[in-house]
Amino acid sequence: MIETTKLRKVFGPIVAVDRLSMTVEKGEVLGFLGPNGAGKSTTMKMVTGFLTPTSGKARVCGHDVQRDTLAAQRAIGYLPEGAPAYPDMTPEGFLRFAARVRGLLGRDAKQRIARAADLVQLHGVMRQPIETLSKGFKRRVGLAQAILHDPEVLILDEPTDGLDPNQKHEVRELIRGMAGEKCVVLSTHILEEVDAVCTRAVVVARGAIVADETPAALRARAANHNAVSLVVSGDQGGLVEAISKLPGVAGVDDPVSSGTTFRCRVRAQKGKEIAHAIGQLVRDRGLTIDRLGVEQGKLDEVFRQVTLGDVPKNTGRRDKKEVAA
Ligand SMILES: Nc1ncnc2c1ncn2[C@@H]1O[C@H](COP(=O)(O)OP(=O)(O)O)[C@@H](O)[C@H]1O
Ligand SMILES: [Mg+2]
Repeated sequence: MIETTKLRKVFGPIVAVDRLSMTVEKGEVLGFLGPNGAGKSTTMKMVTGFLTPTSGKARVCGHDVQRDTLAAQRAIGYLPEGAPAYPDMTPEGFLRFAARVRGLLGRDAKQRIARAADLVQLHGVMRQPIETLSKGFKRRVGLAQAILHDPEVLILDEPTDGLDPNQKHEVRELIRGMAGEKCVVLSTHILEEVDAVCTRAVVVARGAIVADETPAALRARAANHNAVSLVVSGDQGGLVEAISKLPGVAGVDDPVSSGTTFRCRVRAQKGKEIAHAIGQLVRDRGLTIDRLGVEQGKLDEVFRQVTLGDVPKNTGRRDKKEVAA
């Protein structure tokens, strides 16, 4: 439903997006991740037809965004960064305006506005000027605008940025509820968001894709993925050695004994699950397991690893020759 081919945008000396190619299918909820300035918003602006690419192209539902802009935009619902709206309009007025822009009229428009307002729970504020609304409500107004025409493709630029935890949760629930029938791309730099709602995570750094996988696979890259934290009681003589010899174990960290209690952290080799074998070993030795926890691995760590690593293709700056040309 979305296809970008070597999409590129330069602003003066800055390469904001560097030959970015990807496809997104129906049913996918793609988390577009990356540090500030990675090129997420610029990519979204090109896909939605708000910015002209320097080169490359974007297609949405088969329509070339450059040549067939309106047809592409009809298929898209877009929440731009910061959810801009006219502050002196009310949500009702703003949604009516958005409906008219979308060519929706009369009863159809009314029903769609009611449905969108219902979905994002705008009741009670529909006639209050947008400038007087809380950040959470403003974001909901932007979301209502984006889903008004029931688009096949939803592009949401930082939909939960600046919201409080409850509001974040609500917006995520909303996105989850709409997923499945649509193709959703949401940008974020919050990693838990990817875990919470996305089926796929694309990480960009300096305008280029540095990872494209499921949130779980991304997490599996963390050094402490599948590590086991263990607390046992009983006679622990020789336990560390025995654990170290188990297949799949990379090492035992921070062993601490106090009285009959013993605790440690066991690192797993990449892709190996070791919790079961450790549990078995401990029981076979007649020890009591007080705690056995499996670590998931921190997405933060992976994020830093993939976004701070070398991205040789693009330094974020155009080389001098290109600027001169
Ligand atoms: N209109 C513009 N003029 C000049 N530079 C821009 C413009 N828009 C974005 N940039 C630059 O392009 C890069 C990517 O920005 P952006 O797409 O907003 O990143 P993100 O959304 O991932 O934070 C940044 O270095 C930013 O400063
Ligand atoms: Mg942005």
